[in-house]
Amino acid sequence: DQNLPLNVMIGMIAAEPYEDVTLRDISNFNGCNQAAHVVIYADTRTPAVQKLAPRAAVYLQFRFDGHVGFPGGMLNRGERPEDAAYRELTEESGLDSEELRLTKDDLLVVHYSKSKNLLLHLFVKKVSIDIFHLLETQTVNCHEWGKEVIGVLRAPLYTMSDGYRGFPAFLDSKFIGNCKEQLLHFLDKCKIMTKEEIDLALNAKPFVLG
Ligand code: GTP
Ligand code: MN
Ligand code: MN
Ligand code: MN
Ligand code: MN
Ligand code: MN
Repeated sequence: DQNLPLNVMIGMIAAEPYEDVTLRDISNFNGCNQAAHVVIYADTRTPAVQKLAPRAAVYLQFRFDGHVGFPGGMLNRGERPEDAAYRELTEESGLDSEELRLTKDDLLVVHYSKSKNLLLHLFVKKVSIDIFHLLETQTVNCHEWGKEVIGVLRAPLYTMSDGYRGFPAFLDSKFIGNCKEQLLHFLDKCKIMTKEEIDLALNAKPFVLG
């Protein structure tokens, strides 16, 4: 149905539903597997290609499995989500900086996948463009480079004149788990894009001749 409200659209992106359990009592989920990932972003006013100004610089990775994902991973036994997200970030980016330390106040959203019995914590951290750039350049020297991590990505947060290239095309990438939902949730909640802009990008189609 073309007329579904956007919150329903976002929930439907993943092949299976991921329930938003952010405001629930997390102790109800004590027995299940847990993962924690982090969105690192910076303001940028520097035009990218063709004078297009990205809304922000958002750090993502190309993973060993051919999917796009945020840095992060599974919690070790007894580990707090913010500590797991930070530990995985250092393993998967090579950067260990005070400016990137995470606390529970940096938590943005928690999703639960019933079929995977997996609780997914998403943290968010805004950094200076200098730290952001250091993060990008350090990544190729990290412990997991060439293993779990095979690429560094800066999301193209602009739309080109054909209405598809740029962000809408990027959204047609393969994303791991509910990473795409997490990205859209972040863009909305951190006021980088409006719901209407996100909806437009989701519905854009490549221009095909004939
Ligand atoms: P190892 O270090 O090899 O144990 O992997 P990892 O701990 O780094 O785990 P990984 O980052 O692959 O994430 C663990 C689980 O979370 C997997 O089941 C993925 O499906 C899922 N996952 C991975 N990246 C993301 C992401 O960006 N968002 C979401 N929602 N899930 C992700
Ligand atoms: Mn060129
Ligand atoms: Mn890892
Ligand atoms: Mn791990
Ligand atoms: Mn990982
Ligand atoms: Mn690992």
